[in-house]
Amino acid sequence: GRRVTVRDVSAAKARGEKWPMVTAYDAMTAKVFDEAGIPVLLVGDSAAMVVYGYDSTLPVSVDDLIPLTAAVVRGSTRAMVVADLPFASYQASPEQALASAARFMKEAGAHAVKLEGGRRILPQVETLVSAGVPVMAHLGLTPQSVNVFGGYRVQGRGQSGDELMADAKALEHAGAFAVVLECVPADLAERITASLSIPTVGIGAGPSCDAQVLVWQDLMGLNPRPAKFVKRYSDLAGEMTHAVQSFAAEVANGAFPAPEHTYQ
Ligand code: KIV
Ligand code: NA
Repeated sequence: GRRVTVRDVSAAKARGEKWPMVTAYDAMTAKVFDEAGIPVLLVGDSAAMVVYGYDSTLPVSVDDLIPLTAAVVRGSTRAMVVADLPFASYQASPEQALASAARFMKEAGAHAVKLEGGRRILPQVETLVSAGVPVMAHLGLTPQSVNVFGGYRVQGRGQSGDELMADAKALEHAGAFAVVLECVPADLAERITASLSIPTVGIGAGPSCDAQVLVWQDLMGLNPRPAKFVKRYSDLAGEMTHAVQSFAAEVANGAFPAPEHTYQ
């Protein structure tokens, strides 16, 4: 089978079909999600927090994310793999954006990139699209701007909703193939989704978006303090605690390894 492409994603919107996106940062989880039928895998700069242990997404670099992206591409066969361009790898100029995107595509095999921002980064989006790089945009709570927002809070309430709508339309016009809406009121996300012909991918943006995305550690229950918009579909922290404690107990009492785990 072939990979999911941007054409499949836009065809899904035309058919009114909703789809899931999840993050992945390594080959084995990518393989699980890919074989489960997740059409789009995002190597998010959320890796800064869930892989590297920082308390924001700002510290990670292209060099930090390339090996993770390459692993996700190697671990999957069907999903489209979208790579996040990290903080300060695209804001300076369209040339910088293309150089960073090219590294993700040539060195890691990414199929598309995602970047944060609206009308301020239109020149970047236009340059990427005309170079043949599919661009997923990201509006609302854009975590690389947390220091401007003064925390992780809902965006687009009141007047700023019109700005967000204008950003979304401008991004579509510039050639973005999808736009993530993070932490925006559901009615605004609904209006943006209805106004665009490209899909909206919601995270804390209500039920009307064309797609939904979650960080996999959040949806699996590995994050002890997830945001309000997270639903936990598993208690992986509990499962893993139980499993590693069982291993520890069996090492201590000699039950592991048993004869079937042993070469005679
Ligand atoms: O980095 C990330 O995981 C993201 C998604 C939450 C949209 O940008
Ligand atoms: Na991100």
